[in-house]
Amino acid sequence: MTRMFALLALMPLGLIAGAPVWAAPAAPANAADSATELNVLHWWTSTSERAAADHVAARMAELGLRWVDGAVAGGGGGPAIKVLNERTLRGMAPKVAQLNGQATIEWAEMGLLLELDSVAKRRQWSRTMFPQVMAQLNVREHVVAAPLGIHRINNLYLNKAVFRRLKIELPTSWAGLASAAAALRAAGVTPVAFSDEPWQVATVFETLLLSEAGPALYRRMVEQRDPQAFNDPSVERAFQRLRDWRNLSGGAGERPWTSLVADFAAGHKAMLIMGDWARGELGTLGLEGGRDFACQAVPGSAGVHQFSIDTLAMLAGNYSAQAEQEKMAELLGSATLQLGYNRIKGSVPVRRDVPVDELDLCAQQSYQLFANPATARVPSLVHRMAFDEVGKNAFIETVHRFALDPKQTPAAAQRKLQGLLRALGPKSVKPTP
Ligand code: BGC
Repeated sequence: MTRMFALLALMPLGLIAGAPVWAAPAAPANAADSATELNVLHWWTSTSERAAADHVAARMAELGLRWVDGAVAGGGGGPAIKVLNERTLRGMAPKVAQLNGQATIEWAEMGLLLELDSVAKRRQWSRTMFPQVMAQLNVREHVVAAPLGIHRINNLYLNKAVFRRLKIELPTSWAGLASAAAALRAAGVTPVAFSDEPWQVATVFETLLLSEAGPALYRRMVEQRDPQAFNDPSVERAFQRLRDWRNLSGGAGERPWTSLVADFAAGHKAMLIMGDWARGELGTLGLEGGRDFACQAVPGSAGVHQFSIDTLAMLAGNYSAQAEQEKMAELLGSATLQLGYNRIKGSVPVRRDVPVDELDLCAQQSYQLFANPATARVPSLVHRMAFDEVGKNAFIETVHRFALDPKQTPAAAQRKLQGLLRALGPKSVKPTP
């Protein structure tokens, strides 16, 4: 909260008072053009992400809305959020921004987001959307973002052609993975695609934490931020697993997630732990989930859906674009857009009422699991479903330092994580359901 006030204090007065916040677009052809433009700041820059964004832009064009692109490269969105902060502080906020989970809450608490209650009511979002999705959109009883798709994080992808060619059985347990890795190595194939980019390391780690701790304890750690929960031996085991997994990758350094996917698709690496945006990217490379690659849960997390939900928030500014922003929000939540977009993106629809039988097997699996009331659904920390931006980044740095320092023991990393959690203090913002 203090940080938010600090941010507000830094803002140009005009912004707080609702003066125009977006720099005028360079010489619009005519008034109508500028009225229908919506600048969208996001981090979808891979081929599939781009195609999914283009799909939305094309549907918007049919409604007379122009998507003016503001893509900021950088998987996981760290750089994009920095740019959003910077632009907003300079009075140049975009009209629309990719803001997920806790980041949405932070921006809504500062009073910067347009409330979309009338759209949600008109389109009966509380009836058609999953309750967990609605919970992400609601801040202080107001809908403050429009949902796009639900990603699953705890996926293990196996390149079927490689396993078939080498006659190695598809592994489902950690022991099976270890022997498969040995066989792959013996055949000259690097077992694992892994990147040292901080957010990617931490994304793998949070799946391993879930795997070792199980959903109940994981919730105590990530949702409730209970420092005691971080004393559990599962944390040390998760760090050890991270080290082992990274050791199976041949140490390729910091690489964008798209190059891991490309390596995996080409069969240079046989296994990959990644959020299912990777499945979208594999699709653009001609690979189909279920047919060309197996999508399993990371061992130990079968039946658990570790989710992150992509949402677009509308920056209120001086409310001059409210009608267009509402029109866009309405479109994003529609059944047709949901199917078209998610098919490309690798995520699954946020609505309960769309037929998903045309999506690939992996998507159907993710959707059914998320839809099942008996499923344990747990939030992704790294993808903003549980911690605010600063706490999330501190978590990522702690995990990343461990990964890059072979001298740091898993027990020492656990102590650092405990220390971090104690220092961050209890959760102050609204809990995820
Ligand atoms: C976003 C995805 C995106 C991925 C890789 C995640 O944080 O939710 O939409 O594809 O990062 O950039």
